[in-house]
Formats: sequence, structure tokens, C-alpha cells
Amino acid sequence: MSYFSVKNIHKTWETVTVDFSLECEKGSMTCLLGPSGCGKSTVLNIISGLEKNDPEYETKLEIELDGQRIEKLPPRQRGVGMVFQSGALFNHMNVVNNVAYGLISQGMRKKEALIKASAYLPEFGLTDFDKRMPQTLSGGERQRVALARTLITEPKLVLLDEPLSALDADLRRRLAAQIREWQKKIGFTAIMVTHDVNEAEAIADKIVRFSK
Ligand SMILES: Nc1ncnc2c1ncn2[C@@H]1O[C@H](COP(=O)(O)OP(=O)(O)OP(=O)(O)O)[C@@H](O)[C@H]1O
Ligand SMILES: [Mg+2]
Repeated sequence: MSYFSVKNIHKTWETVTVDFSLECEKGSMTCLLGPSGCGKSTVLNIISGLEKNDPEYETKLEIELDGQRIEKLPPRQRGVGMVFQSGALFNHMNVVNNVAYGLISQGMRKKEALIKASAYLPEFGLTDFDKRMPQTLSGGERQRVALARTLITEPKLVLLDEPLSALDADLRRRLAAQIREWQKKIGFTAIMVTHDVNEAEAIADKIVRFSK
């Protein structure tokens, strides 16, 4: 039995039908590759609980993570973390508050969460970035804050929706290698969407290609 599995994702938009199942080993990196509009984000959103299957397929959806069925749980209780393409930081909060946010929403006391978040920043090349506001960060720095904010909550499964696509090729390569290192160190299982075949081949244990 695999560590993560999803069966019978089925979602129809006007001209596109997404029909998808997947299994992942513990600690593995699976890359989803495919043309724009084929349903990659939809798949991640259904796994994380942000979107639903088509009504007639709702009872057929099965998502299992670490031996537990999670498809009926609300997003926060699934043990699934998500990193979006845009980084989606809270612009009114400084870096350390952004990174502490996930811990606080899991119920950790604010003071403790801020101490933990501050100690986590150097791991992500963000030493002394605690008080910086998101608007003052470069694209690469923003993405590292977004990754730190998700990974600090230690999700069992991390979903990465083109987290590097806004960055130039050189930075993208370096951050992709870094994600792989964090993965080995922290031990999470990941599914990453990318447009970039080279990036997928460089870091994936398994590549799943969508067709349109
Ligand atoms: N809320 C929505 N209403 C209508 N159509 C939608 C909605 N969300 C997604 N779609 C359509 O579903 C299809 C799949 O969208 P999705 O965002 O999953 O694609 P994607 O593979 O992530 O594309 P990209 O690589 O451009 O991010 C697209 O044709 C999109 O227009
Ligand atoms: Mg997408």
C-alpha cells in the first residue's frame, strides 16, 4: 500500500474533463507536467480540499494519506500543505509573522510560534529577514518565505503549484535543487506542478504527463 493515493478525481469544466488517479511513495517527489489549462491546478485543489469533484463523482473520490482517509476532512485537517505560484504572502505582515501564521492557525501560542519561525528562517537563506515586509522582497525571496511558511507546519504531503515559474532559469534551478534538499532533510512527500521538463527531470522520482 502506498503512502499517498488519490482515486477518481473527476471534474468537468466547460471544455476540459480532468480524470485522474495517482499513488506516491513516502518521501517521494512527483512532478505533474502538462500544457496550460489541462487541469493540473484543479488536481492539487481537489487533493487539498479547496475544490470538489463533480457532484456525481463526489462519493467516488478516495484520498488516503499515511493510512488515513482524508477526502471528507476540511482542508486544514488533511495534513496537506500547499504552495501557490504567486507565493500569496500576507502583504500586511512581516516575514516572521508570515512564517509563524501556519503554526498559529494550528493552535500554537503566538509567542512560541514567532520564536520557532525566527529560528527556521536561516534554513531558507532568510537570516535577518524577520522584519522585512513582503513588498521589499525579490521574487526568489518571496518564494522561499512561502515555502518556509508551508514547510514549518510539517505537512505529510506538500503540494507545489508551479512555485518557481515566476523566477529566471538560473534561480529556478537553484531553488528546485534546494526544495529537493529540504525534502530529504525534513522528509515530506511532494507533488509539484511544473511547465519545465528539465526541472521535472532534475528533481522528480516520478513524472506524470497530462494530455489535453
Ligand atoms: N472556476 C472555474 N470556472 C470555469 N472553468 C475553470 C475554473 N477553474 C478552472 N477552469 C478551467 O479548467 C481547466 C483547467 O484549469 P487548471 O487551472 O486546473 O489548469 P492548469 O493545468 O493548472 O493550467 P496552467 O498550467 O495554466 O496553470 C481550464 O480550462 C480552466 O479554464
Ligand atoms: Mg495551474
